[in-house]
Amino acid sequence: MKTYDIAALPGDGVGKEVVSSAIEVIGALSDVHGGLAFRFTEFPWNCDYYMEHETMMPPDAMKTLAQFEGVFLGAVGNPAIVPDHVSLWGMLIKIRREFELSINMRPAKKVRGIESPLVNPKSFDLVVVRENSEGEYSEVGGRIHRGADEMAIQNAIFTRKATERAIRFAFELAGKRNKHVTSATKSNGIYHSMPFWDEVFTEVAKEYPDIESRSNHIDALAAFFVTKPYDFDVIVASNLFGDVLTDIGSAIMGSIGIAPSANINLSGKYPSMFEPVHGSAPDIAGKGVANPIGQIWTAKLMLDHFGEEELGRELLTIIEDATEAGIKTPDIGGRSTTAEVTEEICSRIRKKG
Ligand code: NAD
Ligand code: IPM
Ligand code: MN
Repeated sequence: MKTYDIAALPGDGVGKEVVSSAIEVIGALSDVHGGLAFRFTEFPWNCDYYMEHETMMPPDAMKTLAQFEGVFLGAVGNPAIVPDHVSLWGMLIKIRREFELSINMRPAKKVRGIESPLVNPKSFDLVVVRENSEGEYSEVGGRIHRGADEMAIQNAIFTRKATERAIRFAFELAGKRNKHVTSATKSNGIYHSMPFWDEVFTEVAKEYPDIESRSNHIDALAAFFVTKPYDFDVIVASNLFGDVLTDIGSAIMGSIGIAPSANINLSGKYPSMFEPVHGSAPDIAGKGVANPIGQIWTAKLMLDHFGEEELGRELLTIIEDATEAGIKTPDIGGRSTTAEVTEEICSRIRKKG
């Protein structure tokens, strides 16, 4: 029997609620599909841990996590007790960087049984490939002067290596999908990095003559996500542009609570990390109403990553069967609790098994 060893990091707020849901769902899947098992080892690192230890994770955390085949993360952040840049750079962003999780893959599609806020959503099915290691997320810069001259300088870093890697990944992915890549640019306003991004995009595109490509400025692209999301297949974007686009992607699906993501290590040197697009949602944490679908769909991406694509497809079908049957949390217009949605999905897995 193949057993995957996964580190579970529930994190803060609703992260804890939805990670335990998704672990239940994976357990049900493993039960009905002999020959496959997931062993989750949970680590209690979050903002409460920080309050006690003055660090988000212990000093040997990265070494510990490196021994697993995957990291399954809920969400990090409790700004009421720890400033966000401290908690996120101490955990989520630290793991992304130190494990070289250079690609953040974030699909968005029209989901059966979930109403999109768009008047005419048609059927859309896209994937944002977000550069995940550098760009606008940088520690380069500083705060200088005081008083009237006070200022903050924030530099963005765009290396050829990481830019090319993300763009190439997008073309490879499009080759397995609908053969279209859109680049998110802003070379009309951002003087150095974006013309460079465009140059690399044009170069890489030439290597893929069978794949159609185009560039859209990020502002127009954000609008197109709302007016014609069906016009996209794969979109490649810098770290910040990809971050914003994928919240729009989740919104047009119906809720940020359902969007999944995979942070991928391409070298095989470190485990990849799987986490939903949403955060710790302090406004609904502890109420038992968090939508577990983002985390469960994230588990599907983890199955795909391990080559268990058939199981992944089956899981997404069952998620959609459950939403179509009306078993939904309040964010997508239902009245069910996190536990009820989880149980519905588990029982459908067992019935289908
Ligand atoms: P958020 O995603 O936590 O919440 C935005 C809105 O979406 C809220 O109204 C929330 O109730 C709702 N929402 C989010 N997840 C939901 C779910 N599963 N079901 C139903 N509704 C859901 O974003 P925010 O408020 O900007 O951030 C809150 C905290 O989370 C901050 O500390 C932020 O830095 C952190 N954050 C962490 C991650 C991560 O760890 N991956 C991602 C985003 C934000
Ligand atoms: C995400 C989040 C993070 C990001 C934050 C919490 C640092 O918004 O995963 O989308 O911006 O990458
Ligand atoms: Mn985000």
